[in-house]
Amino acid sequence: MQPEVTLHLSVTEGRVAVLARQLCAAPGGVSNWEHVEQAPPDPIIGVTDAWRADPDPRKLNLGVGAYRTEEGKPYVLRAVREAETQMLADPASNHEYLPISGNADFCRLSRTLALGAGSAALQEGRVATVQALSGTGALRVGAEFLAQHLPASNPRVVYLPSPTWGNHKTIFAKAGFQVREYRYFDKASRGLDFGGMTADLSSAPPGAVLLLHACAHNPTGVDPSPEQWASLLQTTHDRQLLPFFDSAYQGFASGDLDADAASLRLFAASGMELVLAQSFAKNMGLYGERAGALSVVCRSKAVATRVESQLKLVIRPMYSNPPMHGAAIAARVMGDPRLNAMWKEELKGMADRIKAMRSALYRELTARNAPGDWSFVLKQIGMFSFTGMTRPQCELLVKKWHIHLTLDGRISMAGLSAATAPYLAEAIVDVVTSA
Ligand SMILES: Cc1ncc(COP(=O)(O)O)c(C=O)c1O
Repeated sequence: MQPEVTLHLSVTEGRVAVLARQLCAAPGGVSNWEHVEQAPPDPIIGVTDAWRADPDPRKLNLGVGAYRTEEGKPYVLRAVREAETQMLADPASNHEYLPISGNADFCRLSRTLALGAGSAALQEGRVATVQALSGTGALRVGAEFLAQHLPASNPRVVYLPSPTWGNHKTIFAKAGFQVREYRYFDKASRGLDFGGMTADLSSAPPGAVLLLHACAHNPTGVDPSPEQWASLLQTTHDRQLLPFFDSAYQGFASGDLDADAASLRLFAASGMELVLAQSFAKNMGLYGERAGALSVVCRSKAVATRVESQLKLVIRPMYSNPPMHGAAIAARVMGDPRLNAMWKEELKGMADRIKAMRSALYRELTARNAPGDWSFVLKQIGMFSFTGMTRPQCELLVKKWHIHLTLDGRISMAGLSAATAPYLAEAIVDVVTSA
């Protein structure tokens, strides 16, 4: 037998060698992907790449939407560490597949965290929830579900705030939605353009999807007041819009999980149907674990059951089923009263440190007589401040001062520390007076 095998192999190898020579010599022997153009770096993730490559020791990364300690280090919550320790020690743990809809405890606890234990929709069992690949995955699956299952008479149109988180447009466009914007940020006051927002939504076609940031609007840090939320609810109802809440910062804005869910709960309490994308990236520091949830609040339990079955059909050909680890951590942290209390305390600590950074930056800017009114830094909410700095000013911050940020003037307050606030203020004063 042995000689035959050798002969067969050498014939095959010979054929491969001939083929390789022919392919290389052939005219137009070019890659199938020769025409593929270099894509631009992601405007947000590209900032961190540029910061990494910057050799200057004073460099600051204010682009990343991730919490950092006073020392500028990533932070793993104690509650999360403890949940992981428990999981490692649990002899029943394994690495089997999750169901298509994910970890059932995680789904139940997530929707309760968002809607509140007293929610009528929850008590009536009319919320369909699936685990998702963090907030982005929840938005993507939600958009896909809506594109497929909204009534045929509804336009496939989504209204996004201007500006909004950069990924929203692509997520909805990929699902087949026509993307339209509603006015949101007022450049002059660096606050909410409530009149513009209401006017734009009042002319939206009935049945259009309305994307709302539940709290801590990214990138502006500007949220509607409770009265404005009530008025938006009325407009949404009158125009028959379908609200899609993006909740990426619950608890991170005010330090209080319930307070940060007030807008969502107001809409849900009205009885209207809505969609909710939740992320545990920021509020549990589970960025890379991709722990998120998508909920669809329906009119009845029967509808919710059918909706959930269709959500599974969206998920199955996309990624089959979600990862276990992050959702298992989040479920333990939400479900165990001691870990839950620990989490709430740490969440408050993170929100407070960000607020302290707002005060520090404002103080340092005022001490340097920064031109204009910078009090908006104190008023804006959540991880970011939208400074109104122009693109050339931002470019100068990067080039001259090695302060990395998105070129729309958004800075991550979470990336700042007491030690770096004076440096940032000095740099801002320089660029706003010279660029
Ligand atoms: C408004 C908003 N929505 C959704 C997300 C999605 O985050 P993730 O997919 O990491 O949960 C982010 C992240 O920055 C965000 O700011």
